[in-house]
Amino acid sequence: MENIDWANLSFGYMRTDYNIRCYYRDGKWGKLELCSEETINLHMAATSLHYGQEAFEGLKAFRGKDGKIRIFRPEANAERLQSTCRGILMPELPTETFIDAVKKVVKANERFIPPYESGASLYIRPLLIGTSAQVGVHPAREYLFVVFVTPVGPYFKGGFSTNPYVIIREFDRSAPLGTGIYKVGGNYAASLRANKMAHDLGYSCEFYLDAKEKKYIDECGAANFFGIKNNTYVTPLSTSILPSITNRSLMQLAEDMGMKVERRPVPEEELTTFEEAGACGTAAVISPIQRIDDLENKKSYVISKDGKPGPVCTKLYNKLRGIQYGDEPDTHGWVTVLE
Ligand code: PLP
Ligand code: COI
Repeated sequence: MENIDWANLSFGYMRTDYNIRCYYRDGKWGKLELCSEETINLHMAATSLHYGQEAFEGLKAFRGKDGKIRIFRPEANAERLQSTCRGILMPELPTETFIDAVKKVVKANERFIPPYESGASLYIRPLLIGTSAQVGVHPAREYLFVVFVTPVGPYFKGGFSTNPYVIIREFDRSAPLGTGIYKVGGNYAASLRANKMAHDLGYSCEFYLDAKEKKYIDECGAANFFGIKNNTYVTPLSTSILPSITNRSLMQLAEDMGMKVERRPVPEEELTTFEEAGACGTAAVISPIQRIDDLENKKSYVISKDGKPGPVCTKLYNKLRGIQYGDEPDTHGWVTVLE
């Protein structure tokens, strides 16, 4: 692709050659179909449009120095999609079909996978929606699963550099027993005003406390939070945050590096004690946190005094990226190499 500026890609949509689709009708999933249309022909009374029967996923494919294409932990995304399906009463897509779809669509769009040197990747976006007409609030009978891909650069400007966050108390992303643990569109609709508020105030991203008590750390926008202190990786345990596959991987890598891992409620005041902290996710990878401001309580938790990513965040970042690009051994079997 001679006319793509790979090294300067942002996190945005670019048309690629193909997407892949699979329909659920008469109680069963059909065959995968490659498609070059970008649009979906949808009934105006589809449950995805009215009652939020919509789930999505996000994962990435990487081109290695050796030219091989690696997809990071697709079975984990398949399992999380199944969990989301159970959460909003949609039929579960088998892991095998999910992985087959991901591999086929990546292969079909191989020319859009950024070169190794660019540090960019191919973002893979699976989507599952209720398509049949329904006016009463009930699950649909028919569904569509689609996977599209788009080449992406860093989610936050500047890539691996520190960013400021702001605690937003005016809006909740999800309730303690709500849909926060699922990857459904409604959670992101609920986050739009908080995200705009944070941006308007000059921050990279909004920072959520738990909705009930506003006492414990939940998430950083569309990424999980972790803090580092005393050779320990600390990350919130909460019923209203998305179980991040990146976070799960970092917990394992931290353990491999001889660190302790604690997954537990993290009170806001504990922010004063972290030597380093980061936001992590597929899109964000690791975005080290410079500071977190609590405007209402006139507090600023400065995490990185010199404004630079700390040594542990850097080590974790390099290790994770190394595995994803094939520069480091895949000792946990996280990578699916495309044949
Ligand atoms: N939290 C939210 C709300 C997200 O949207 C995402 C992105 O998927 C994450 C966390 C990170 O999850 P993962 O590491 O699986 O991409
Ligand atoms: C991801 O990290 O994959 C996300 O889904 C983040 C955001 C683009 C929703």
